[in-house]
Amino acid sequence: MERTKEMTVIEKDWGKFVSLPISDKLKYFSKNSRIYDCLFAQQFDREILEYLFRISNTLRRITKTKEGMNFASSLLDHKRAILYFVQPSTRTFLSFLNACHILGIKTSEIRDTSISSEYKGESPEDSIRTFSSYVDLIIMRHPTPNFVEKSAWLMNRTKRPVPVINAGSSKDQHPTQALLDIYTLYRSFNGEIDGKTIAMVGDLKRGRTVRSLSYLMKNYKNMKLIYISPKEFAMEKDIIDFLKKNNISYYETTDFEEGIKEADAIYMTRIQDEHDKNGESKKVDYSGYCFKEKHLKIIKKDAIIMHPLPRRDEIDVKVDDDPRAMYWRQERNGMWVRAALMAYIFNVDSKIHIENNP
Ligand code: CP
Repeated sequence: MERTKEMTVIEKDWGKFVSLPISDKLKYFSKNSRIYDCLFAQQFDREILEYLFRISNTLRRITKTKEGMNFASSLLDHKRAILYFVQPSTRTFLSFLNACHILGIKTSEIRDTSISSEYKGESPEDSIRTFSSYVDLIIMRHPTPNFVEKSAWLMNRTKRPVPVINAGSSKDQHPTQALLDIYTLYRSFNGEIDGKTIAMVGDLKRGRTVRSLSYLMKNYKNMKLIYISPKEFAMEKDIIDFLKKNNISYYETTDFEEGIKEADAIYMTRIQDEHDKNGESKKVDYSGYCFKEKHLKIIKKDAIIMHPLPRRDEIDVKVDDDPRAMYWRQERNGMWVRAALMAYIFNVDSKIHIENNP
């Protein structure tokens, strides 16, 4: 934790702290000029992204052999992590769990507060404090806005702080999903992301993955974003303001077929109806925002099709066999880049031989 006297005053008051601009908060979540708590996509600059990609590539290569796997799993076999996932998850949970195992980190989990002491009235804040009595890392997915950040803030004020990784926070951010998405773009385009046009499709208003991925665009040159959604689910103003402030080219459209034609990557998302208050999703016609087999003919020959998954009917299963469908690789990429991130947070990245090629 990099503290100053001035920070200490704000640090004590969560209400004041949470309303600071992200750029002012980042130093609270770093240690020795490195990311310590991974909470926001804005924590990643191009240098750290490309470094993490190289670690990921190396890990996936060396662990093909028993000798390499034994080496990887010795790196952090003195560490323990808890996966506190109190929102549903399949791939983020499993990819983090297996990434921990690749590095030798021992794991425990809470996925249901009805069988933890939160059921008896313990606050989520006290639960976090309890986890830190037993483990060295908290990986968490939580439905309450800003609670992952609050957990890191709380931890950093205790005598036994442990790093916190955001594995999906409410509607606001999913930074490690953005990390695996950008890693997938990097691998798919042989390291050349600059100048690409990315179409993001679907429920952009409530999708945390598209929000976090939009923030990462700042790290690349001449990017163009096309936000394609029904008007009810258009991207929120704070992200549009971010794009304007950072001179990132974008346009918004309701026309799916027009939008996907010029894209180098088409990032499909599902309707986020778990955030409905009064069944509002049912009133929106989403049928025009589904990628069907016929669309394979109108997109660029070398475009890629992505999806954070899980999907419903936004991508027809007939698309799965097309070589441009990247979503199954994308979810596997998540395990490697999450392993790389944890190796970095625990400072064992220097022990991994880093490849230079993408
Ligand atoms: N992409 C993603 O977050 O998937 P899960 O909800 O299955 O973890």
